[in-house]
Amino acid sequence: GRRSAQSREQTYVMVKPDGVQRGLVGEIISRFERKGFRLAGLKMFQCPKDLAKKHYEELQEKPFFPKLVKYITSGPVVCMAWEGPGVVASARKLIGSTNPLQAEPGTIRGDLAVAVGRNVIHGSDSVANGEREIGLWFGEAELCKWHLELTPWLL
Ligand code: PPS
Repeated sequence: GRRSAQSREQTYVMVKPDGVQRGLVGEIISRFERKGFRLAGLKMFQCPKDLAKKHYEELQEKPFFPKLVKYITSGPVVCMAWEGPGVVASARKLIGSTNPLQAEPGTIRGDLAVAVGRNVIHGSDSVANGEREIGLWFGEAELCKWHLELTPWLL
């Protein structure tokens, strides 16, 4: 029905190597859980260079592209698929501005980071990119299908 179509929106969220090394994984998962989103996929993963380049392929021409690929492949990341109504835009709000010095207090980057090349976390910037990125980082069998009729108070 209508409720489930809208409820099934998904976004790709990733704790970057600095966030993993700093022990921020629990804090970050907790913020998304408390907001009310459903975790549909979760794994720790050391990302190969090819996947990093594909993930950031829109940024290929940027001067910081090689640095960005190096950063993301420098250590394990924690990959997540979060689900719920409006989750793509809401995750971006919870995460805060790309530059942590401009991110509002109360956001993940605003509270936990100080530099763009160490900004702790990634979140998809559109519904289409959410689908694309979840497809890149997760296999079908790694994603969990929630039965919404069993969780009537989750949207
Ligand atoms: S842009 O130029 O507007 O397209 O870039 P932006 O949307 O702000 O950011 C896209 C991703 O690139 C990362 N980024 C950087 N990494 C390292 N160094 C520099 N200078 C830099 N500038 C931008 C930024 O964190 C975004 O990555 P994600 O993982 O999506 O947050």
